[in-house]
Amino acid sequence: MAPAVVIGNGDMPEFEGRITIYVAVCVVIAAFGGLMFGYDIGISGGVTAMDDFLIKFFPAVFERKQHAHENNYCKYDNQYLQLFTSSLYLAALVASFVASKVCSKYGRKPTMQIASVFFLIGVALTAGGVNIEMVIIGRILLGCGVGFANQAVPLFLSELAPTKIRGALNISFQLFITIGILIANLVNYWASNIHPYGWRISLGLAGIPALVLCFGSFAICETPTSLIERNKVEKGKKILRKIRGVDNVDDEFKSIVHACEMARQVKQPFRKLMKPASRPPLVIAILLQVFQQFTGINAIMFYAPVLFQTVGFGSDAALLSSVITGAINVLSTFVSIYLVDKAGRKILLLEACVQMLLTQGIIGGILMKDLKATDSYLSHGEAVFVVILVCLFVMGFAWSWGPLGWLIPSETFPLETRTAGFAFAVSSNMLFTFIIAQAFLSMLCHMQAGIFFFFAAWIVVMGLFTWFLLPETKGVPVDSMVDKVWKQHWFWSRFMGGEEEVKVV
Ligand code: BGC
Repeated sequence: MAPAVVIGNGDMPEFEGRITIYVAVCVVIAAFGGLMFGYDIGISGGVTAMDDFLIKFFPAVFERKQHAHENNYCKYDNQYLQLFTSSLYLAALVASFVASKVCSKYGRKPTMQIASVFFLIGVALTAGGVNIEMVIIGRILLGCGVGFANQAVPLFLSELAPTKIRGALNISFQLFITIGILIANLVNYWASNIHPYGWRISLGLAGIPALVLCFGSFAICETPTSLIERNKVEKGKKILRKIRGVDNVDDEFKSIVHACEMARQVKQPFRKLMKPASRPPLVIAILLQVFQQFTGINAIMFYAPVLFQTVGFGSDAALLSSVITGAINVLSTFVSIYLVDKAGRKILLLEACVQMLLTQGIIGGILMKDLKATDSYLSHGEAVFVVILVCLFVMGFAWSWGPLGWLIPSETFPLETRTAGFAFAVSSNMLFTFIIAQAFLSMLCHMQAGIFFFFAAWIVVMGLFTWFLLPETKGVPVDSMVDKVWKQHWFWSRFMGGEEEVKVV
């Protein structure tokens, strides 16, 4: 049976209800799942730049770093060091498919609780690590937590939020990711001066959001949609009254029951997803995630401190620079929250392509000209300029491909394939995050400054894709996408013929 998700927007009927304190508390607790994800993204780069950590687990990398003048671009190239970062995403990729089943069979709340248990064990193993195996197993468990949390939290948020603030709330998930990254950068900056166990503090502090999610998840409710979907109809109605803070929830209740009935008609959502009519949103969901990763954003999020050391900063200045990029990432996400429903999705994506293309291109040019592999340094002025360019790059990403990579896949699938389709988006994100995490340092070593041109070339491809093939979905009711978007599109309409649709009014 297809899991039912009711995601509304401004054009759907306004249901009665207000934003209750209870909903606000549930939202904040669940968002700690996003914060955990962000913290894990942000923490590994700083930790892998700490000498104490390298000496303990990667002595060969530490040795090479001491002779940095031998090769600027290769000092961190080590498959195991990359595995430390990337193992998390491989685990999350596999876990997200399991989580999508758990999520529809047992509900969003237990899925988040399982995530928090994975997180807690993962934190204990990484922070208490005595050998590299233990640390990598810890990262794998953290990855399982990310897979479970990333599948459940966005759905939980969408289902709990009153219709009129659902769009902004969806981007709040990304906002919490960016806050998690920033906190991780700050923690690394502070902990890097605590010897010899600063890295343990960095990894161990992830326990705080994990504990909040773990204990907090006992206080939150299951979503009405998930309860009704699993035939707990009366309980679902009771919770709906509680979260909306009004007695009359009949209209919304009916719409959820209706959505669940529709979803039940589709016994095999994954099979339905393979039909031609599902191709447009599926291809777009997967490609947006692939493109999101090939902007090169995570080369910066994971390895900013390493990258900044490569261009000539000392360890502290490099960590401070990543705090700055982290703060820009958070602040720019607000621009997206503000503009996405006014200016539209396409214009944000296209503008960002230009901004990211220019910045990647100029960074590549500077490094190619002035940072040779050996016996060469950027001047201080040039290094500062590179940091500014990185900030402009992050800014562009944070108001476009970052949040929209998640938003668009969540609004373009018809109801009956929505969660199955979203699972593909989550897992594609994890797969390509894994690829970048695993390959970036080797690519930096072999391609040197050329790596920035590599990302720039992808940005051209994604710009062309957005221009020609991505339809604008601003203001289109989520359940009218087939008629108003896909059937009208010059290219995607060819897939739409002959398929019977399930529509929800
Ligand atoms: C991406 C992450 C990235 C983060 C940066 C998210 O949308 O999925 O891979 O690290 O944005 O803020």
